Amino acid sequence: MPHFLDIHKTAPAALRGMIDSARMMKSARNGRPKGTPDDDQPLDGRMVALIFEKPSTRTRVSFDVGVRQMGGQTMVLSGSEMQLGHGETIADTARVLSRYVDLIMIRTFDESVLLEMAEYADVPVINGLTNRTHPCQIMADILTFEEHRGPIAGKKVVWSGDGNNVCASFLHAAGQFGFDFTFTGPPPLDPEAEFVALAREKGRRIEIERDPLRAVEGADLVVTDTWVSMHDSQSTKERRHNQLRAYQVNERLMAAAKPDALFMHCLPAHREDEVTSAVMDGPHSVIFDEAENRLHAQKAVLRWCLGV
Ligand code: CP
Repeated sequence: MPHFLDIHKTAPAALRGMIDSARMMKSARNGRPKGTPDDDQPLDGRMVALIFEKPSTRTRVSFDVGVRQMGGQTMVLSGSEMQLGHGETIADTARVLSRYVDLIMIRTFDESVLLEMAEYADVPVINGLTNRTHPCQIMADILTFEEHRGPIAGKKVVWSGDGNNVCASFLHAAGQFGFDFTFTGPPPLDPEAEFVALAREKGRRIEIERDPLRAVEGADLVVTDTWVSMHDSQSTKERRHNQLRAYQVNERLMAAAKPDALFMHCLPAHREDEVTSAVMDGPHSVIFDEAENRLHAQKAVLRWCLGV
């Protein structure tokens, strides 16, 4: 079953095919109004369930619009309103939904929910974010980098801040797409050692550098994310801010990267915390291309999962 569960679980050739397909589909729309269908309607007659156990703006809207542009239909389901949130097992939910829909996209907390859904579903399952990873985001980020700067292979990506779920998927992508990756942040918030080891096994240069100014030397891309993720307790906010203040992406940090370095953030951002407005709205930033590319990249993921 072609599930899209994580970047390191998907073959590099398939990932490359999805990025190329996304670029072609984006170009084929050629600036037409967002609500008009694509010329090609590969999802005609297909029904997609979009399950959200956590809030979302980009993932929810981009999946919904993407399916519709390709001729399919969607139903957006909130976990708390389903029996899933009232004791029905994930396995039974997966079996039942498979009788109604052609594909399930789920955003959930614990990765085990995603994995159980995939194990028991008879249709493809897409990871729309768990506490551990966020692969769809990174597909959009690769597409965005390559649109602006060409192939990402051999480039240096620097993550500044919390080694969270988005950082984890970047590490997976380093191994699969062949770029180097430096994490800069405080030790308690390092990315999972297992993911660092996995990327190193694939031959990539993966570094952990505590000094953010040294970390970004030679960087082609600087990335950060919110200091308090959706699954983190708000009580950690003050401690996180103290731990991460030195890792804010600001003009001084960007000036230490390559002159043509790009800046990305998956959004939503907390302006003046993890990144300043001067960087978000400045010449290095491609954050809104990145947000748009969620749409195009996920259309390619959907097609790959459904084999259409
Ligand atoms: N980047 C991202 O996943 O955004 P949403 O939480 O709005 O979906």
